Amino acid sequence: MTTQKRVLVTGGAGYIGSHTVVELIENGYECVIVDNLCNSSYDSVARLEILTKHHIPFYKVDLCDHDGLEKVFQEHNIDSVIHFAGLKAVGESTQIPLTYYHNNILGTLVLLELMQKYHVEKFVFSSSATVYGDATRFPDMIPIPEECPLGPTNPYGQTKLGIENILRDLYNSQKDIWKVAILRYFNPIGAHPSGLIGEDPLGIPNNLLPYMAQVAVGRREKLYVFGNDYDSRDGTPIRDYIHVVDLAKGHIASLKYLDAIDQKTGICREWNLGSGTGSTVLEVYRAFCDASGIEIPYEITGRRAGDVLNLTAKPDRATKELKWKTELDVSIACKDLWKWATENPFGYQLNGISATFGT
Ligand code: NAD
Ligand code: WQD
Repeated sequence: MTTQKRVLVTGGAGYIGSHTVVELIENGYECVIVDNLCNSSYDSVARLEILTKHHIPFYKVDLCDHDGLEKVFQEHNIDSVIHFAGLKAVGESTQIPLTYYHNNILGTLVLLELMQKYHVEKFVFSSSATVYGDATRFPDMIPIPEECPLGPTNPYGQTKLGIENILRDLYNSQKDIWKVAILRYFNPIGAHPSGLIGEDPLGIPNNLLPYMAQVAVGRREKLYVFGNDYDSRDGTPIRDYIHVVDLAKGHIASLKYLDAIDQKTGICREWNLGSGTGSTVLEVYRAFCDASGIEIPYEITGRRAGDVLNLTAKPDRATKELKWKTELDVSIACKDLWKWATENPFGYQLNGISATFGT
C-alpha cells in the first residue's frame, strides 16, 4: 500500500492556493489547509471539497499564532509545505508597511521554526516578479531571467525579498537538509474551468482582470486604463499574464522536483513562473471583451504610481529543470474568468452575504 504524501498548504483558501489544492489532489497528494481567512472565506474550501470529492482538513489559524500552528504539525504527518499565506496588495503595503512586515515575515518565521522542529524540510514559497522591481532598468534582461538583479520598490515586495533571503540563509546553514523552491509568479489570472473556484477580491479590485470582470457583471461603471503613453505597441504596459491553473501546476512540478532530489542533498533555487509572452493592457482588454461578448466601457487615465513598462518572464529555467511550461493562453484565461464571474457575480458571497467558518 502506498501512503499519500501530505502537503500543508498555507493560504489554501485564497486564490492561487485553492487552485493548487485541486492539482495536488489530482496528483495524489493529501492536503491540509491553514488560513486565517483575512482575505478569503471558508466557502472556497467547501467548494474545493465538492470539486475534488475529498475531505480537506482545514484550520482557521493565523501563521503568527505559534501554538495554533503547532497543533497542525502535531495532528498531521506533514511531508512538505507550500506557503501561499501572506498579504499581497502593493498599494496597501505602502500605507500599512508594519502590518505587511509583521504578517508576511513573522508568519513565515513561525512556520519555518515549526518545520525545523518537526523535521519537515521541503518548502515551496510563493514569491513574486515584484522582487525584480523595475526590471526595465536592465534592458538587456527583458524577458527577465532569474539572474536579473533584485530591487523591490514597495514594502510588499520587500517582504517577498526578505523571505527569499531568509530561505537562502536557512539553506546555507544546513545544505544537506533543506529543499526549497522559490517560485516567482508573474501575473496570475483566470479561474478554474469548473466555475467553482476563482479570484474573489475584497473591496475594490487592485488588479486588471478582476476589475474588468466586475465592470462586465455590472458591479462597476467602467475600467480605468492607467496610462497609454508607455513605449509599447499600443502605449499601455506589458505584463506576462499566466492562467492560474498553469501556475498551480507549476507547484506540482516543483514539489515533484524536490521529491526527486536525493534524500541527503538539499537545494534552494529560484524559478520564474510565467509564459514568456507579454500582453499589453489593451490586448488583455480586447481578449476579455471577446470572451465575454461585452464591450466593456473604459477610460484612459493617468499612470498609476509605481507601474513599470514591461514585466515579462524568461521561463526557460522552469521549462528545462521543472519540465513545466504554460499551456493555457490569455484568451482561455479570459473565458474561464468569465465563467467564474457570470456564475458567481459576487464571488463566494451569496447576494452579498458570506458564510463564516465555525459558527
Ligand atoms: P490571496 O489573498 O487570495 O491568498 C492568500 C491567503 O493567505 C488568503 O486566503 C489569506 O486569508 C491568507 N493569509 C494571509 N495572511 C495570513 C496569515 N498570517 N495566516 C494565515 N493565513 C493568512 O492571495 P493569492 O493571490 O492567492 O496569493 C497567494 C500568494 O502568492 C501570496 O503570498 C502572494 O503574495 C503571492 N503572489 C500573488 C500574486 C498575485 O497576483 N495574485 C502574484 C505573485 C505572488
Ligand atoms: C496590470 C496592468 C496596470 C488595473 C501586481 C503586483 C505584483 C503581482 C501581480 C503580487 C498594469 C493596468 C490595472 C486597472 C489598469 N502581485 N491596470 N487598470 O501591477 O502588474 O502586478 O499583481 O505579487 O506584485 O504589483 O498587476 O493587474 O494591478 O496591473 O490599467 O484598474 O493593468 O497599470 O499595467 P501588476 P495589475
